[in-house]
Amino acid sequence: MNQDIVKRLGPLPSKSKLIIFGGGYSGQKIASVGRQLGVKVLCSRRTKGSAGADFIFNADNELSNEIFEGATHVLSCIPPLLSGEDPVLSKVKTKLLNSKTLKWVGYLSTTGVYGDKKGGWVNETTCPNPQQERSIRRFSCENEWLDTKLPIQILRLPGIYGPRRSVFESLLKGTTKMIDKPGQVFSRIHVDDIAGAVLFLINLYSQGKNPSVVNISDDLPTNNLEVINFAANLAKKSLPKTIPFEIAQKTMSPMALSFWQENRKVENKLLCKKLGYSLIYPNFKSGLKNCFSKLKMN
Ligand SMILES: NC(=O)c1ccc[n+]([C@@H]2O[C@H](COP(=O)([O-])OP(=O)(O)OC[C@H]3O[C@@H](n4cnc5c(N)ncnc54)[C@H](OP(=O)(O)O)[C@@H]3O)[C@@H](O)[C@H]2O)c1
Repeated sequence: MNQDIVKRLGPLPSKSKLIIFGGGYSGQKIASVGRQLGVKVLCSRRTKGSAGADFIFNADNELSNEIFEGATHVLSCIPPLLSGEDPVLSKVKTKLLNSKTLKWVGYLSTTGVYGDKKGGWVNETTCPNPQQERSIRRFSCENEWLDTKLPIQILRLPGIYGPRRSVFESLLKGTTKMIDKPGQVFSRIHVDDIAGAVLFLINLYSQGKNPSVVNISDDLPTNNLEVINFAANLAKKSLPKTIPFEIAQKTMSPMALSFWQENRKVENKLLCKKLGYSLIYPNFKSGLKNCFSKLKMN
């Protein structure tokens, strides 16, 4: 099931143990690929009984030292709290700092920290200029992680998609909105490439190739209408009329609106050219074909 990802990756050092804080959509995928590579992986969720919960991590519980015993790698996939605090650092920073076995710590962040670039490109050397409250909180958490001086790598992600989380879900429900904002593009990344890139970067880190910030995005920032039209053609679904952004924005949630207020293209040259990761889904077309094939299987 993860063969396309696994074949891009070298073996991780034997006896690797990866702790994933936040085993949600990306976390579970990374865990599943990690396990296929022979890594011992433990994934957190907030609620007992949740699928894939190897341990519970929430505001109320204390973590046992046993979880950290022999941990070589730690990844946080948990967003900042509304207060701005990083939930992982707040609770386990001392344990991480005291570890004698940790070789790599990853933090999944967002490309929202770059702010609006009016459709221009951003890369890891672009000075972050977060404008949304949540991106300001995110940038502050990035800095908190960097300040720990742990062997930390900040991984900035644009819109995540993949099976069960793509334009097909709204297309099949008939809730697709064709919002037309000429010149607006979004960058994106397929969840399989998040898993592939994270495990690829873990391996490179041990070889001394260890940039502190890496963007993980595909090759082709694209206008949303192009993406929806492509998906509708694959699924043979008809589409509603387009709505000019100026009209659509009047009924948008503040969260949805905030995404449309920023326009940037996220460059991946560091990951894909300098470090040599080969994307499984370099653009939305190949990625959506994968999502569609998974839909047909269900
Ligand atoms: N979705 C996107 O398009 C996007 C884009 C860029 C960056 N990101 C960021 O990338 C990371 C991974 O994204 P994702 O979509 O894979 O995440 P996701 O599916 O929403 O999973 C988030 C995980 O964090 C856990 N979590 C959230 N708040 C927590 C808290 N206060 N304490 C403990 N655990 C908490 C959740 O616990 P439960 O499993 O119990 O729910 C879940 O396991 C997140 O930080 C996200 O903000 C997302």
